[in-house]
Amino acid sequence: MNRAQHESDRFHREYYSTHSLFEAGTWLEKPTSSVMEIGSVLSQRSAVRALDLGAGVGRNSIPFVRLFNPSSVVCDCVEILPDAVEILRQNAIAQGVADRITPICSHVAEYKIAPNTYDMVMAMSVLEHAYSAERIAEGVRMIKEGTRAGGFNCLSIATDLEETDMMTHEAVEPIIQARISAQDCSALLSRCYSEWEIQRLDYSAFKDKLIRDGKNIEWTARYCMFVARKPE
Ligand SMILES: C[S@@+](CC[C@H](N)C(=O)[O-])C[C@H]1O[C@@H](n2cnc3c(N)ncnc32)[C@H](O)[C@@H]1O
Repeated sequence: MNRAQHESDRFHREYYSTHSLFEAGTWLEKPTSSVMEIGSVLSQRSAVRALDLGAGVGRNSIPFVRLFNPSSVVCDCVEILPDAVEILRQNAIAQGVADRITPICSHVAEYKIAPNTYDMVMAMSVLEHAYSAERIAEGVRMIKEGTRAGGFNCLSIATDLEETDMMTHEAVEPIIQARISAQDCSALLSRCYSEWEIQRLDYSAFKDKLIRDGKNIEWTARYCMFVARKPE
């Protein structure tokens, strides 16, 4: 395993053992608004199949499936951390949606998506952990091909990532698979989705703290939020 994936695993394992689903003041507090908006549109359809890549503990997939009649939706949830998959399974039971959620423990790049399978593919803050900057387009292509006509893709990608040692105030080299600028991210998504209807492409600033190698580090990023719909 490469160092970036190792760091991602360490960070998320620790985060999920400290914070619970929907905990106030954490990024697990509520689902992404675009995911819920797409869910509202799709809830008018029957037999909806969704895919959540890097699903974590169900922050998006669980509220998403709750928008539907129980028998009209299923969501496959792919997550690399066995601990997170188990918490997701327990959360789905606690929220009464275990029949609509399928937890799958896998690396995103190793999960084979059959073409034209899903009405909605969400990949919230995972592509930058799973692919290098050079290969992130491969992940996007796989997601696009797996989407049915009229279906949606909802992506969130951390860009312009910077880290500072809080003790020395010196810049630290971030450890992440894909360190991508907002400009390159917009260019990539606009190119990859040129034949789709792009409904959202914007950025919001985010700041948090982490501890690595005993150092307190503050990290900042601009999160790209992207929504596109495949033509019918
Ligand atoms: C920032 S969290 C976001 C979780 C969830 N999508 C959400 O929005 O709440 C990123 C998630 O992706 C998972 N992850 C990281 N690398 C992955 C990989 N290569 N394949 C699958 N999941 C991965 C992490 O373990 C973590 O749960």
